[in-house]
Amino acid sequence: MTLPAFLSRCLRPVRRPHPYRRRSSGDARSLPARNAAASSLALSLLLLSPLHAAPPSADSIAVRVQACTACHGEQGRATNHGYFPRIVGKPAGYLHAQLLNFRDGRRNNALMSGLVQHLSDDYLREIAEHFAAVDLPYPPPQTVGAPSALLARGEQLVRQGDPARDLPACAACHGAALVGVSPAIAGLLGLPRDYLNAQLGQWRTGQRRAAEPDCMARIAARLSAEDIGAVSAWLSSRRLPADTRPAEALPQALPEPCGSVGAQPQGVGPADGSDRRAGPDKIDGQAAPGKKVRP
Ligand code: HEC
Ligand code: HEC
Repeated sequence: MTLPAFLSRCLRPVRRPHPYRRRSSGDARSLPARNAAASSLALSLLLLSPLHAAPPSADSIAVRVQACTACHGEQGRATNHGYFPRIVGKPAGYLHAQLLNFRDGRRNNALMSGLVQHLSDDYLREIAEHFAAVDLPYPPPQTVGAPSALLARGEQLVRQGDPARDLPACAACHGAALVGVSPAIAGLLGLPRDYLNAQLGQWRTGQRRAAEPDCMARIAARLSAEDIGAVSAWLSSRRLPADTRPAEALPQALPEPCGSVGAQPQGVGPADGSDRRAGPDKIDGQAAPGKKVRP
């Protein structure tokens, strides 16, 4: 059996019907199914995540998503040394959208698509909410010793964009602190360099798509291969800020419309006018882009 087939078998018994939901109903008939699910997951745990400490109780969603840790790291916290993106702590709406994208063919990855292909919207939302709620420390930056000219170019594009090419700053949408904005925009720090390169490349070639209007597709189309290399190098060389939680809102409207952000009130900052939710005023001692344009 292939790894994805094995992993999706681990997910299947607990998918339909939701056994943990019936726990409070005291339905004794669900016990064998639950036990079977638990032992198959215990097996996957044993085989795939041997270093995991005390497993949580058998019927929780935490145990049902143990299969994910095989690739995404313990509790979904990837190290940043390989290709697999960390998934914990990302905005729930973003994670849910990605799981739907893999399932419905807007993102192409055979492993991921195979795992989620039979899962319902609601089930994927629960998985997304589970990972979004986990708060774990990040590993140190992956990229060290990249050429300073490359890093400077990357930083410039991320923080200021390139008005001459109508390229908005990445920070204008991903948040001044670059840790993302709830509910739908992912952070850009703590991701492997190869993963960043691949995602931007896939948007350029149409292999990754988001809801229309797909702002990332338009932005990636304006980036050269050198630009992509520079932003990926710089982003993967950054240390995370002290507060890694996604901002709850951007202090200004999106520079261009993004379908995946949709009808969310993304352009509205906190009602009290404070900057509390929108990340720090400064990153590495420099004014953060979002702060300049705040009313
Ligand atoms: C066999 C390895 C493997 C397993 C197991 C796996 N994933 Fe993935 N996952 C990947 C890879 C590789 C990618 C990046 C795909 C790409 O290049 O688009 C990915 C991407 C993702 C993303 C997108 C992350 C982002 O930042 O956009 C999410 C969300 C995700 N996986 C969730 C899960 C969940 C939930 C599970 C468990 C049900 C899981 N994965 C199990 C390999 C795996
Ligand atoms: C106009 C707003 C906007 C701008 C500007 C923007 N992004 Fe994005 N970005 C988004 C949205 C929205 C998503 C989520 C798309 C989805 O749902 O798949 C995203 C997702 C991403 C992802 C996927 C993250 C992951 O975990 O897979 C990467 C990488 C990314 N952006 C990089 C960049 C870079 C680099 C720049 C600057 C060159 C940039 N973005 C500028 C809106 C923007």
